[in-house]
Amino acid sequence: MNRVLSAIDKGRDAALDGLREFLRIPSVSTHAHHKQDVQNCAEFLAEEMRRIGLHEVESIPTAGHPIVYGEWMGAPGQRTVLFYGHYDVQPAEPFELWETDPFDPTVRGDDLFARGSTDDKGQVWLHLKALEAHLTQTGRLPVNVKWLIEGEEEVTGPNLDAYVESHQEKLAADLILISDTTMFDYDVPSITYGLRGISYMEVLTQGSNEDLHSGGYGGSVANPINAMASIIAQLLDDKGRITIPGFYDDVVPLTDDERAAFAALPFDEEAYRKRLGVDALTGETGYTSLERIWARPTLDVNGILGGFTGEGSKTIIPSKGMAKVSMRLVPEQDPVQIAEMFENHVRKLTPPGVTIDFIRHGTGKPFLTPKDHPFIQAAGRALEKGFGRAPVYNREGGSIPVVATFQETLGLPTVLMGFGLPDCNAHAPNEKFNLKNFYRGIASAAWFYQELYTDKYV
Ligand code: BES
Ligand code: ZN
Repeated sequence: MNRVLSAIDKGRDAALDGLREFLRIPSVSTHAHHKQDVQNCAEFLAEEMRRIGLHEVESIPTAGHPIVYGEWMGAPGQRTVLFYGHYDVQPAEPFELWETDPFDPTVRGDDLFARGSTDDKGQVWLHLKALEAHLTQTGRLPVNVKWLIEGEEEVTGPNLDAYVESHQEKLAADLILISDTTMFDYDVPSITYGLRGISYMEVLTQGSNEDLHSGGYGGSVANPINAMASIIAQLLDDKGRITIPGFYDDVVPLTDDERAAFAALPFDEEAYRKRLGVDALTGETGYTSLERIWARPTLDVNGILGGFTGEGSKTIIPSKGMAKVSMRLVPEQDPVQIAEMFENHVRKLTPPGVTIDFIRHGTGKPFLTPKDHPFIQAAGRALEKGFGRAPVYNREGGSIPVVATFQETLGLPTVLMGFGLPDCNAHAPNEKFNLKNFYRGIASAAWFYQELYTDKYV
């Protein structure tokens, strides 16, 4: 490992240069006008995977964006790691809030600023560099690896699930490895053993067949935006609980042990509140912030639109309203069942004179795995070597829908070893990746492959 680690050290600048090139390609999966960029990004990644010595590398077309696959199977008798990540990114809008161009990666201080720097290109790249260091220094890897990098994670595309289901033999492995989560804090590496699921709904209200003069008609017809506001207001009660009947039926309650483990983490609520610029932290009564984010379901309006929003005033009764509502789910809630419950409840809350419609924007199941699994413990040792400090074990509030698919179809344990930071601005303007953690991440990944090498450790 000494040679591998010193190659990683010497290769820092080259690693950063390569990542910059990767980040320059605007692979925004949700925008149709970036379709070609997404494809170019897949080709770029495939080419790099070939260059470092992975085999059978291909950019596989799907009905949506390509899946990039590659493997190195030269360690017979050793374990096989299926590494998953995504090369697509969230849109960068609003552009005017970025200090530098989101697709012109820029180093300021210890951070690299660019869309996708943390989520997830930087984290995919650090694994590529770890494999490259092993391959160039020793001509081999300690274990077998298969790489599966998708281009639709940020849009919950259906194509990866279908691919996994129909290629189970090709993807056969001993464990799944993912770096698409965050560390607990700057110097505190972590392993994530739980993620929330999601049900994402669009709600459409319709009143009169066209906008009306609010003086001439106001009072005689229902206003679909008032109706939307009233519906939304009724979805949460004054204890921060979701009012949909049956919503909590399948929620696995937090155990006393887990609550104690969360409480023992070095989390400074007051510093967190200040960083967010709010005068109070709110949520479901009876739970701490970490419990609310990691282990309790939530319902949030992500956006709302309708009526007149231009300059000045215009007196109308609008004919339409629209809201995007997402629910984060915890084990054992079923996202499709929750979507149905949501629709039924909202229908009941809809006043006369307004019709309601829904678009379901994708679902993802929650994930929870025992933290004492030997592979998770191996990842813990690798992080300790990479960071000089043992990791904490935590859950997170975000979602990676394919993790549940891996668990159900391939039946494999999953290791979530993330290198982002809570304030990395993922999905927001000025997304950044801390470079120190990028380099420590490369070393940790290199150690993990070594930790899985059975001759040495079993
Ligand atoms: N990297 C995130 C997942 C994540 C976020 C994990 C925060 C832990 C903490 C991933 O790229 C993501 O953004 N997922 C989406 C999935 C959604 C579109 C179905 C999410 O969580 O919003
Ligand atoms: Zn994301």
